[in-house]
Amino acid sequence: MTTHRARVLLVDDNEALVENLASILDDEGYEVRTAPTGAKALAAARPGFDVALLDVRLPDADGTELAEKLREISPEGAIVLLTGFATLETAIAAVRAGAFAYLVKPCSTPDLLLTIEQALRQVRLHAEKRELSRRAQVAERLATVGTMTAGLSHEIRNPLNAAGLQLAVLERRVNKLSPADQPPLLEPLRLVRDEIGRLEHLLEDFLQFARPRELNIARVDVASAVESVVGFLAGDAEQRQITLEQAVAPGLAQAAADPERLRQVLMNLAINALDATPAGGRVRLEARSEGREVVFLVDDSGPGIAPAARDRLFEPFFTTKPTGSGLGLAIVHAIVSQHGGSIEVDVSPLGGARFAARLPQA
Ligand SMILES: Nc1ncnc2c1ncn2[C@@H]1O[C@H](COP(=O)(O)OP(=O)(O)OP(=O)(O)O)[C@@H](O)[C@H]1O
Ligand SMILES: [Mg+2]
Repeated sequence: MTTHRARVLLVDDNEALVENLASILDDEGYEVRTAPTGAKALAAARPGFDVALLDVRLPDADGTELAEKLREISPEGAIVLLTGFATLETAIAAVRAGAFAYLVKPCSTPDLLLTIEQALRQVRLHAEKRELSRRAQVAERLATVGTMTAGLSHEIRNPLNAAGLQLAVLERRVNKLSPADQPPLLEPLRLVRDEIGRLEHLLEDFLQFARPRELNIARVDVASAVESVVGFLAGDAEQRQITLEQAVAPGLAQAAADPERLRQVLMNLAINALDATPAGGRVRLEARSEGREVVFLVDDSGPGIAPAARDRLFEPFFTTKPTGSGLGLAIVHAIVSQHGGSIEVDVSPLGGARFAARLPQA
């Protein structure tokens, strides 16, 4: 995930003070936005902030009321109120408004910086807590999947196999019928075959996910790994009228990976890219070496990742597709982590999404 500079919002109508403070904070490495009025503060807060420094007396608004509105816009941010005088009422109002702290003007720069740092620390702690509870939730789901899979896979696999075998019998019998009688029967048979295939695929995903196999690490020739996936998906891409490209630098170092698992990573990412890309678009698989790693890039010219999906992509069962299991990226994440690598998502130079999987070099 990308890290950003801490964002500070300064809301005060005292221009000289704001300018001075902004330049100090900028020197300290903060990303600073300023607003002289309540109305402008609301607009400036839209992209989110980590800490807002707020004068309680603004020309068009009451600071404590504004604080509440700002908290609605950026619930994760902390608010520090600046007041002209210290009274019990202002303190109470500040607490009511959910402010992290309040400072009495004029306050010294070191005091101000210290308060901002403390507020920021609290913001980061809260973010960590949220992340931990999100991970705990994911772990819990994983545990559930594991137990469920163990019990169900056997129960589902056998009848599914039996259905597949019976279907093959049926197909053979239909093929023996006169050519005129065959067509109306073939189409429904094909549909059933497809659906069984889908169920098998789903079951495979569940199994892979619930019981990650041990890795058989080998020296993998990166170019042929990419080439084989591109070759496998070429027909599919053509049918969807998508240009499928590959770019592997010649003489690239080998990767230290389990070839089967690596293939699965590339397949899942490439299929997602194809799914996201409309006809006429492009999907590109690329590999380069960076430091001691091999980076696999999968780019597409689709719509990119929806902001609401960004944080949930790697969650098991998160899907926006009517027939998706939502396990594809969770499996990718698990495999890449198992290799001691990482996976990141970014904006692609092709206009859509870019997934970058990093694996160690051999
Ligand atoms: N290249 C991409 N561009 C845009 N959105 C994407 C892309 N790749 C993944 N996503 C989003 O992430 C979601 C989760 O992807 P994931 O591969 O985990 O599951 P899925 O593709 O929906 O289902 P499955 O892979 O199990 O068939 C997708 O439903 C889609 O919304
Ligand atoms: Mg997928």
